[in-house]
Amino acid sequence: MTTEPMVKVWDPLQRGFHWLLLVMIATCWLTGEDGPKTLHQASGYVAGGLIAFRLVWGVIGSRHARFADFVRGPRAVLAYLASLWRGEEARHLGHNPAGGAMILALLAVVGTTALTGWLQTTDLFWGSAALEELHEIAANLILVLAAFHLCGVLYESWRHRENLITAMIDGKKRAD
Ligand code: HEM
Ligand code: HEM
Repeated sequence: MTTEPMVKVWDPLQRGFHWLLLVMIATCWLTGEDGPKTLHQASGYVAGGLIAFRLVWGVIGSRHARFADFVRGPRAVLAYLASLWRGEEARHLGHNPAGGAMILALLAVVGTTALTGWLQTTDLFWGSAALEELHEIAANLILVLAAFHLCGVLYESWRHRENLITAMIDGKKRAD
């Protein structure tokens, strides 16, 4: 049996960030409507803190964690989506251009949800129906984006015959 050469792609903080964020968002969702308010707020603040960490890590983190490694302009994202449509998309060791755009969107929407949640607890916005509505819309948008994100992960795993989910756990991907 031949074993394929593997390389480290995702660093430990990046992986910890991802799975902890997932748990925090799930907790926020389970406690949003009628769970313990303190747990909802605590997990929301941790989620917000994780987003702040990831923004810094996107500048000073390891190679494939950096925004410079995966943030591409709209043309590159559209070109990648067109190649995906034709079934000719290239494999990327780091995030692909569409995945990178989705990551920015997820960071923005989770950040907005945490921010609008916190603002509701301030004197200025206490009882603001508009902010409550915005918080709910942003929380729903996380689910919509995460569903597309998961579809992308599963589709690319199938296309390139590799398990991207385990790669986000052990950090390793096939070297080629
Ligand atoms: C609320 C739910 C989710 C959010 C907010 C989220 C967010 C993110 C973010 C921000 C990244 C970039 C990681 C980084 O570069 O540090 C990422 C990547 C990734 N996520 Fe998620 N994620 C969610 C759910 C999931 C789920 C359910 C799975 C699979 C079980 C998953 C699998 C992955 C994988 C495999 C990558 C790496 C993608 C690649 O190979 O380019 N995510 N996710
Ligand atoms: C990513 C993080 C978060 C998610 C996904 C989230 C999600 C939700 C959801 C789904 C609801 C229920 C909306 C409804 O149908 O009434 C909710 C309500 C609420 N959230 Fe969050 N939340 C997050 C962060 C926070 C934070 C950081 C705070 C404040 C510290 C917060 C404060 C609140 C409050 C006060 C409500 C109740 C609004 C009301 O019904 O009166 N949330 N959240």
